[in-house]
Amino acid sequence: MDIEIAIEKTDNPKPLPSDESFGFGKYFTDHMFITEYSKLLGWHAPRIVPYQNLRLDPGAAVLHYGQAIFEGMKAFRGTDGKIRLFRPEMNWKRMKESAERLCLEFVDLPVFIESLLRLVRTDVHWVPSKAGTALYLRPTLIGSEAFLGVRAAENLMYYVIASPVGGYYGSNAIEPVKIWVERKYSRAAPGGMGAAKAGGNYAASLKAASEAKKRGFAQVLWLDASKKEYVEEVGTMNVFFKIGDTVITPPLGGTILPGITRDSVIQLLRESKTPIEERPISLSEILEAHKTGDLKEVFGTGTAASISPVGAFGVNDELISINGGKVGTLSSELYQTLTDIQYGRRPDPLGWTMEVSL
Ligand SMILES: Cc1ncc(COP(=O)(O)O)c(C=O)c1O
Repeated sequence: MDIEIAIEKTDNPKPLPSDESFGFGKYFTDHMFITEYSKLLGWHAPRIVPYQNLRLDPGAAVLHYGQAIFEGMKAFRGTDGKIRLFRPEMNWKRMKESAERLCLEFVDLPVFIESLLRLVRTDVHWVPSKAGTALYLRPTLIGSEAFLGVRAAENLMYYVIASPVGGYYGSNAIEPVKIWVERKYSRAAPGGMGAAKAGGNYAASLKAASEAKKRGFAQVLWLDASKKEYVEEVGTMNVFFKIGDTVITPPLGGTILPGITRDSVIQLLRESKTPIEERPISLSEILEAHKTGDLKEVFGTGTAASISPVGAFGVNDELISINGGKVGTLSSELYQTLTDIQYGRRPDPLGWTMEVSL
């Protein structure tokens, strides 16, 4: 690819943390990618530099009016030693749509892809190899223009940072989580920006998440903002319900994030001829299916955990156990298939992975 990217290497590489201590998002690699936008110059000066603080005016739009969007994706080191990205063009598409929702400019696909490839190559020794680990990549776009007033910033920064992350499940065996059904707070309303990966959506979710945590739940299940009846998504995951032999997931109506894992799971289910429906699903339908014994499995999908089985729902004062709190067959098959493709352990007929040539 013919994109000139200057590379300034650090003189002070950090010691590599041990695989066991990774956690999620605690450590950052030695370098970062950055490029700036102005009306006059367009996107300019793309470069890899030592990981460092940003220079931002205290009046920058991101600090006042929440003009920030980001992405979350992983570079996987396979057992064959190759490093792969998973459907990175989908992250670009979503980031472009998020930028449009916030009236911000964004880089073209080739620059986005190259920003990821160059950073991974520069910090290649940070891509861990232990089962379940990965290098998490965080492309970020912020409004850096200094002004007070509500309009889209005309000076922007696009940067990518990277963080080695451990297996979501410590032992690498998937474990079911307990989810709180949120009936008081809302994450996103129709016509709002719920489909954008904007920082503001996560700020809006903190109160409910912290109250759920105090009650002993890992994340919240959001319901629609108006009736609090239809299911939307779970914390940082999309959600699937297996009722009888059919798998159901809420449709993309603008209030939930169009998850890349969600899209991949839908395609895998279609391939295996498992009935899959994208349609509104109400809490009453789920509770009824639970009562009749038809609610077989529930799982969340997202980059962090890939597939996360739900073992129980907290609805008001009741705890609804799903599949006896155990991991369902479908959840574990999907987890296996998806992670096998990501780590290069099985063929990738749909061309989802992009190898990082070293
Ligand atoms: C709110 C929300 N929903 C869903 C997802 C799942 O999206 P993906 O599968 O692209 O990681 C995420 C994670 O990024 C998220 O933050």
